[in-house]
Amino acid sequence: MRRIAISVASSTLILSVAGCGVLDATGDGASASPTKGDDVVVGLLLPEKANSRYDKFDYPIIKNKVAELTRKHGKVEYANADASATRQADQLQQMIDSKVDVILLDAVDSHAVADGVKKAKDAGIPVIAYDRLAEGPIDAYISFDNELVGEVQARTLLGALGSGVDTSDKIVMVNGSPTDPNAKQFKQGALSELTGKVTIADSFDTPGWKPENAESEMAGAIAKIGKNNIAAVYAANDGMAGGVIKALKNAGVTDLPPITGQDAELDAVQRVVAGEQYMSVYKSYPDEAEAAAQMAVTKVQGKDIQFDALTQDKVDSPTAKDIPSKLVQVSALTQDNIKDTVVADGIYSVGDICTAKYKAACSAIGLK
Ligand code: GAL
Repeated sequence: MRRIAISVASSTLILSVAGCGVLDATGDGASASPTKGDDVVVGLLLPEKANSRYDKFDYPIIKNKVAELTRKHGKVEYANADASATRQADQLQQMIDSKVDVILLDAVDSHAVADGVKKAKDAGIPVIAYDRLAEGPIDAYISFDNELVGEVQARTLLGALGSGVDTSDKIVMVNGSPTDPNAKQFKQGALSELTGKVTIADSFDTPGWKPENAESEMAGAIAKIGKNNIAAVYAANDGMAGGVIKALKNAGVTDLPPITGQDAELDAVQRVVAGEQYMSVYKSYPDEAEAAAQMAVTKVQGKDIQFDALTQDKVDSPTAKDIPSKLVQVSALTQDNIKDTVVADGIYSVGDICTAKYKAACSAIGLK
């Protein structure tokens, strides 16, 4: 799926030219789609609430960017499916019925949602897959480089185990939801690094990415492998890393093994500071969400040159080939680079992270 190089420099250049008003909303030439002015309505369907990124970052960033791009005339209609694919199908239908101009869709179940995507297309509404690659006739896709996420998690984990790492070292893998195609890519990326270097002693695909499911999976793994025989835990995201840590503590483990995560959630960043979680993956939500807003607005306004500039990568889904896409890069977040990642991007301030409980741990790692 990942057969593209990203040309950030060239798309940024074209976009900034477009941003100066060189191209207008009437289209870029004969191939331009029917156009619309600034009164754009973007339907935004996000998958769940257990992970704070959706309500806290994705939605508000997209909303503000749509307002900025449409001189405050455009708006976002937002619905969150709370991890239910049937609820999301209803929400998608409501957006079709209310005739939104374009839909940004982050699927709970990328396969099951294909019918809804087709209905939207039949109603003349373009659908852009957001973060997770929905099946069906989507117009474009914006996400992070998901295989890279898994590689970064696994490489950092191996780094934590150090040069003494041995093929007999037992690792537990707590992967994401089986209905989320990203989860499969995170796992693939991680396995490409871990295979042959350590033993995967137990592995789970976790329904709904739910922390409580991760906790019980981990309790099972501890019972099977033994609490002192686990060298490290690959947890695919921060919420589940929290569940894994609870299970280890409940089993009486005081010296926690290296544990991975993803999403740079505030409580996970604090656990990294405190040394309870080894790493997270920082994904720049502004980069992803702002590009999604630009894709949605340019699509509806028929600004085809800008739309193409934004979607220079190509990916395949199980049902569509060469989907115009943009894949954003990610980085590992560890104790050493909290300031250069989440703090530098204004996601959290040092004050948000270094609350009374974490003051001492913050000074110990020089975070001030
Ligand atoms: C993935 C997403 C991650 C994380 C996870 C759990 O699809 O890429 O950032 O949010 O779902 O919700």
